[in-house]
Amino acid sequence: MRSQEPVKRVRTIGGGTAWLVTRHEDVRRVLSDPRMSSDRTMPGFPSLVPGRRAIVAENKQAMIGMDGQEHAEARRAVIGEFTVRRINRMRPRIQEIVDECVDRMLAAGGPVDLVRELSLPVPSLVICELLGVPYSDHDFFQSRSALMISRSTPPERRRDVVLELRRYLDELVAEKVREPADDLLGRQVAQQSEKGEVDREGLVSLAFLLLIAGHETTANMISLGTLALLDNPDQLARITEDPARTPAAVEELLRYFSIVDGATSRTALADIEIGGVLIREGEGVVAVGLSANRDPEAFDSPDELDLDRQARNHVAFGFGAHQCLGQNLARVELQIVFDTLFRRIPGLRLADGLDGIRFKDDALVYGAHEMSVTW
Ligand code: HEM
Repeated sequence: MRSQEPVKRVRTIGGGTAWLVTRHEDVRRVLSDPRMSSDRTMPGFPSLVPGRRAIVAENKQAMIGMDGQEHAEARRAVIGEFTVRRINRMRPRIQEIVDECVDRMLAAGGPVDLVRELSLPVPSLVICELLGVPYSDHDFFQSRSALMISRSTPPERRRDVVLELRRYLDELVAEKVREPADDLLGRQVAQQSEKGEVDREGLVSLAFLLLIAGHETTANMISLGTLALLDNPDQLARITEDPARTPAAVEELLRYFSIVDGATSRTALADIEIGGVLIREGEGVVAVGLSANRDPEAFDSPDELDLDRQARNHVAFGFGAHQCLGQNLARVELQIVFDTLFRRIPGLRLADGLDGIRFKDDALVYGAHEMSVTW
C-alpha cells in the first residue's frame, strides 16, 4: 500500500471510512499540521473500536483529545513533570520496582508468564509512584488497571472497572487537596489553587490518561523487546557487554515494533493535500506509525532489527504537538528493565518457543497477551 497507494481510503471497523496515511514523510505532515484535529467527538474521527464513541462522550476529554490553545495550555501545565532531568530522578525507584519483580520471578522459579510478572506490574507501579498512589492501594490500582486492559474482561465489567478507577482517582485528587503532597497530582493541585480553583474533574481525566497511555504501551514494549532480544542473541550480547548501547537499542525496538497506531488518528478541519491526495474537511485520517517506521525512504533495510541503528527519527511516540508526553519515562523504564532482566537472569529463554506466545493481533496496541519464560 505504501509504495502503490500511500494515502488510501479504507472502511474502519467501527463503521465509516478514513484515509490511511503510510509514508514516513506524510505521517509526519499529518501529525504536525494544526488543521488536523485530535478531538475524539468529531463525527469524522476514525472509529477503530465499535462502541468507543459512547465512552468518549461520557468523560471529560484529556489533552490527547484537545486541539490548539486548549491543548497547549493543558500540556504546558504538566510538561515539567516529564523532563529528562525529572525522570532521571525517578531512576532509583524504577530500579527498585524492577528488582522486586525480578526477585519474585526468581523466587517462583520458571516457567513464569513474563507479561504478568514483569511487563504489567512495572509500568503500573511506576504510574503509582508518579501519581502518588499510597502503597496500601497498589494492589487495588494494579488489579483494576490489569482488568481494564485485559481482553478477557467482559465489556460490562470493564465499564464498572473504569468507573471504579475514576472514582478512586477522584478521591485521590480530593486527598491531595486536603493534604498537600509532593507528587505530580499534589503539584498540579498546588499550581491550580494558586491561580484560583482546583479543576478536580480535569485532574481525574489527566490521571486517567496517564494510566491508559502509560501502562499497556510500556508493558507491551517490555514483552516484545524481551522477545526480540532473546531472538537475536548476538545483538543482545552487545548490550549486555556494554549497557551504554541500551538507549540506542531501545530506540530501535520502539521503531521496529511501533505498537501504537490507532491513537494517531485525526479529523481534517480544512481541505488538506497529503501525498498528492486531497483530504476534505471533516474526513478522518489514520497516520500509520508502523508503516512510517518501516518506510525505506526513511530507514535503510527497515525490516531488519539493527540495535546499533540511529533510529531517533522514528514516529513510535507520534510527532508534532501531541508527541508522547511520557516518552522520557518510557525510555528509562525500558532501559532499566532490559539491563536488569538479562543481567540478573542470564539464562532467560522462552519456555514454549515462539509458537507458545499469544500475540495481540486483535488489539489497538500491539503486544503479547502471555509469554511464558524460563531459565
Ligand atoms: C501520546 C506512544 C508511553 C503518556 C502518545 C502518542 C503515541 C504514544 C504514539 C501520540 C498520540 C497522538 O498523536 O495523538 C507511546 C508508547 C509508549 C508510551 C509507544 C511506551 C513505549 C507513555 C507513558 C506515558 C505516556 C509512560 C505517561 C505515563 C502520553 C500522553 C500522551 C501520549 C499523556 C498525549 C500527549 C498529548 O496529547 O499532548 N504516546 N506512549 N505515554 N502519551 Fe505515550
